[in-house]
Amino acid sequence: MGRSRWSNQLGFILAASGSAIGLGNIWKFPYITGVNGGGAFVLVYLLCIAAVGIPILVAEVYIGKTSQSNAIKSFEKLDREGSPWRHAGLLGIVSAFLILSFYSVVGGWVLDYEFMALTGKLGSMPAEEMEGLLGSIRSSPGRMALTHTLFMVMTVLIVVGGISGGIERAAKILMPTLMVILVGLFIYAMTLDGFGKSMAFLFSPDFSKLTWGGVLEAVGHSFFTLSLGMGAMITYGSYMGEKQSVLKTAGLVAFLDTIIALIAGAVIFAVVFTFDQEPSSGPGLMFAALPALLAQLPGMWFLSSAFFLLVGFAALSSAISLLEVVVSYWTEARGWSRKKAAIVIGAVIWALGLLCALSLQEDTPLKIMDTSVFDIFDKATSKIFLPVGGMVISLYFGWVLGEKHLGAIFPAGKDSIMAQGFLWTTRVIAPVAVVIMLVNGLLG
Ligand code: TRP
Repeated sequence: MGRSRWSNQLGFILAASGSAIGLGNIWKFPYITGVNGGGAFVLVYLLCIAAVGIPILVAEVYIGKTSQSNAIKSFEKLDREGSPWRHAGLLGIVSAFLILSFYSVVGGWVLDYEFMALTGKLGSMPAEEMEGLLGSIRSSPGRMALTHTLFMVMTVLIVVGGISGGIERAAKILMPTLMVILVGLFIYAMTLDGFGKSMAFLFSPDFSKLTWGGVLEAVGHSFFTLSLGMGAMITYGSYMGEKQSVLKTAGLVAFLDTIIALIAGAVIFAVVFTFDQEPSSGPGLMFAALPALLAQLPGMWFLSSAFFLLVGFAALSSAISLLEVVVSYWTEARGWSRKKAAIVIGAVIWALGLLCALSLQEDTPLKIMDTSVFDIFDKATSKIFLPVGGMVISLYFGWVLGEKHLGAIFPAGKDSIMAQGFLWTTRVIAPVAVVIMLVNGLLG
């Protein structure tokens, strides 16, 4: 039985950027940038994308494309049966479960806002109520359960549809729409009074605001935003055809992902500074900023519906990649049908997501040392699991696959400066950088 494939190179680019561009770009990047004081954090984040993220992205896509196997099997296929490197894949499967469970709860918040936008509720809401809106959603478990369920159902349905018929077809509609809406909002944001301050906040670094904790957050986020460190890009790469270029596609995906995060940040901070909001307000930043802006405008109904639709699209096309990592493994290793795997695994993740939603309540036993299960899943995956997974993948590429594979990635040959720079980045630079930041970030 032949393995499924993307229909062409564009199919891969859309699906992979659909995976990369998500809540990480539009919700998480602006709020963690705000919490960490702006420019200096952004600079570290950009450096991490360039020096660690892109090399690991190239390595993941290449491992997938060459092995044509799921996130665990790929390590054995290119090394040997039972290879210890497959544990990186196993860790990835665990990460997929944990990330998707809290991700889907946030996806649910977005759906909630979208419904309120469409029905006109958001537009007619008094400002004070709007400010507390996310808070009141977070303290209504029933409401979150409903929207989280809806989000998971959509994710499962697309994954059941398969590679070219489900994921690729969804991404073809979702990604271009998202870019058009975002660029439209950006053009609008340029006319706001706070736009200059927003640019300064993002691009003029003040290093006195940067902590080791912030540096670790930047490293972790560069993995999260590019969907790295858990085999998502290995899995997507495994549906690539022979003639498709790893280097070009990976470069384009990283570029699109970064530019979208920066645009989303510029829009959100322009609003924050125009309406005198607090840049460091945390996870509620996007949910408070945008409606506040849009409420001022004549086109509120349309703009807010469009904005939350965009965020919902971005979230959905990322969620499917998280589920696909596990589904791809289960169908290939256990012989389950795609439909059965997507539904059963989706149900388990759905249940974990309910725990995340419940853990946000005041009086809940679902907290460890005052940290909710929601936050534990979020922090443990992006600050530990993804960097560790990415480091192992990097070492695997550098030391196990090594030189003999460079020629297949770099058209200029294995001795070109780019190829050698890449090799030593995967062997030494990326792993060492991850270890230094992990140790400092976790201890200090
Ligand atoms: N990159 C996505 C975002 O920015 C989230 C995501 C999708 C992800 N697949 C992943 C994160 C795999 C880590 C690993 O929202």
